[in-house]
Amino acid sequence: MTESFSSAYYEGKTVLVTGGAGAIGTNLCSALAEAGAALVIILDDLSSGYTWNIPRKRNIMFVKGCVTDDVSLKRVFFEKPEIVFHLAAFFANQNSVDYPEKDISVNGLGTLKILEYSLFNGVKRVVYASSGCSIYGSAAPLPLREDFMSMNLSTPYQITKMLGELYCNFFHNHYGLNVVKARFFNSYGPGEVPGQYRNVIPNFIYWAMKGEPLPITGTGEETRDFTYVGDLVNGLLRAGHNENAIGQEFNLASGKETRIIDLATMINGAVGNNAGIKFVNRRKWDTKSRLLASVEKAKSLIGYEPRVEFREGLMNAIDWFRENRAQIEQAASFGPGLSSAVRDK
Ligand SMILES: NC(=O)c1ccc[n+]([C@@H]2O[C@H](COP(=O)([O-])OP(=O)(O)OC[C@H]3O[C@@H](n4cnc5c(N)ncnc54)[C@H](O)[C@@H]3O)[C@@H](O)[C@H]2O)c1
Repeated sequence: MTESFSSAYYEGKTVLVTGGAGAIGTNLCSALAEAGAALVIILDDLSSGYTWNIPRKRNIMFVKGCVTDDVSLKRVFFEKPEIVFHLAAFFANQNSVDYPEKDISVNGLGTLKILEYSLFNGVKRVVYASSGCSIYGSAAPLPLREDFMSMNLSTPYQITKMLGELYCNFFHNHYGLNVVKARFFNSYGPGEVPGQYRNVIPNFIYWAMKGEPLPITGTGEETRDFTYVGDLVNGLLRAGHNENAIGQEFNLASGKETRIIDLATMINGAVGNNAGIKFVNRRKWDTKSRLLASVEKAKSLIGYEPRVEFREGLMNAIDWFRENRAQIEQAASFGPGLSSAVRDK
């Protein structure tokens, strides 16, 4: 049976969020701070996060540092967090194709160190941000269910996100550390800054606002299971609390499919962009034509329920862009590299 959940569970608790200056992390920290956490510690090296995006709350503390650096880790674990949300990662597929060694260092060694420090410091629960978009490979039957395993992953990022889960299993089985593996699907919403290695939604909004045609890497018939960041955060808060979640892995998704062509049309319409779309080459590693997750396990285990309708979530993301336009313009970077080369074709 699902336990009832109230975010008041976090009242008075000290929580560590690695990657807390990132797209999902900033939303999570905000929710934890509002729930009355005594202290929310962010450990983030700002490689893809931004201090201006961190909520200004008296109970949030920011430590700039890397998850592989012992001095930074000692500093944040000195605060004795009870719960750790491990969101820091080298993000994402194309970035890992371009920089595979950095990927294994952050996503592999970084995750191992977070688990070690959590064990040695008596942390009661570690919630690991896994990636359902990554770890099921491209041959899994839809909707994607938690018991499917793939040995055919197509990028270093997909491999290391899976590796993180395997390390979690080891620490749980061998040492009894309370770990939870939450498998996210294509997060979107306020807080995600566009860029060369970012997701399609912030990049489409960014280009649409500049009056550029939206580049579709494929036919546009491809689908994704876009998950509103607020729903994800609610799932994470439940994952950090619910006893049933310990040792488990489950999808956090919307449970709905959206075609990329429909996404592009919706964004162009909402922003008033008349430049339309353009088709560019599919990226070689992008082998998934459809993504749709089952959320049944998360529903029955932790009472997870995605609530925000896609159009509403998209409008929230667009509003956030309008409110933060100046910072976004400054931060968004589309440097030289394969992704931007594909876009410019
Ligand atoms: N966004 C998605 O659609 C999605 C989907 C599946 C899984 N995930 C996972 O969710 C987590 C959060 O994703 P996000 O979209 O917020 O990404 P993000 O890039 O916005 O956030 C990651 C944060 O980690 C920080 N970071 C990176 N390397 C670090 C290091 N070595 N030490 C300390 N901090 C470091 C970055 O600066 C950034 O603030 C990641 O683990 C990602 O793999 C995200």
